[in-house]
Amino acid sequence: MLRGVNARYLALAVVVLGLGYAGFLWLRGEPSAPSLSPEEVQGLFLKKGCTNCHDIRNPLVGPSFKAIAQRYQGDPDAEQKLFDSVRHGSQGKWYDPRTTTAYGIRRVMPAQDRKKLPDGELRAMVRWILRREWRITEGR
Ligand code: HEC
Repeated sequence: MLRGVNARYLALAVVVLGLGYAGFLWLRGEPSAPSLSPEEVQGLFLKKGCTNCHDIRNPLVGPSFKAIAQRYQGDPDAEQKLFDSVRHGSQGKWYDPRTTTAYGIRRVMPAQDRKKLPDGELRAMVRWILRREWRITEGR
C-alpha cells in the first residue's frame, strides 16, 4: 500500500522535473538546433527576410554569403561571431554605417529577435554560410 503510493509520487516527481527541465531549456532557447537539410536552411534565408539584403554571390545591401565565408575562413570563433552579429546586429565591420545604397538603405545589419528567429535556426544558417552549403543545393 505505502509502496504503491511512494511509487506514484516518484513517477509524478520524475514527470514534474522532466517538464521543468524542458521548460528551462525552452526558455533558454536551447538545444533546439534542428536537423535541417541544406535546402531547408536555404529556404530559411528567404522566409526570414535575409534575402532582401543578402545574396549568395553578389553584394546587395549587405555582403554576399560567399564573401562572408571567405573573410572568416580559418577563424575558429567565426560561428559565434556571426551568430552574435545576426542576433544583436552589426555595423561598421563591412561598410561605413553612415553610407547608404543607391536606394537610400543604410548599410547596417539589423538585430534579429529570438522569437522570430530561434537560436537553433540561426545557428544552422550561420553554419550553412561558413560551410558554403549552397554548393550542395546548387551543385557547385
Ligand atoms: C536591412 C538589410 C539586412 C537584412 C534584412 C539582413 N542583413 Fe545581414 N547584413 C547587412 C549589412 C549591411 C551587413 C554588414 C554589417 C557591417 O558592416 O557590420 C550584414 C552582415 C551580415 C553578416 C556578417 C556579420 C559579420 O560579423 O561579419 C551575416 C552573417 C549576416 N549579415 C547574416 C544575415 C542573416 C542570417 C539575415 C536574416 C536573418 C540578415 N543578415 C538580414 C544587412 C542586412
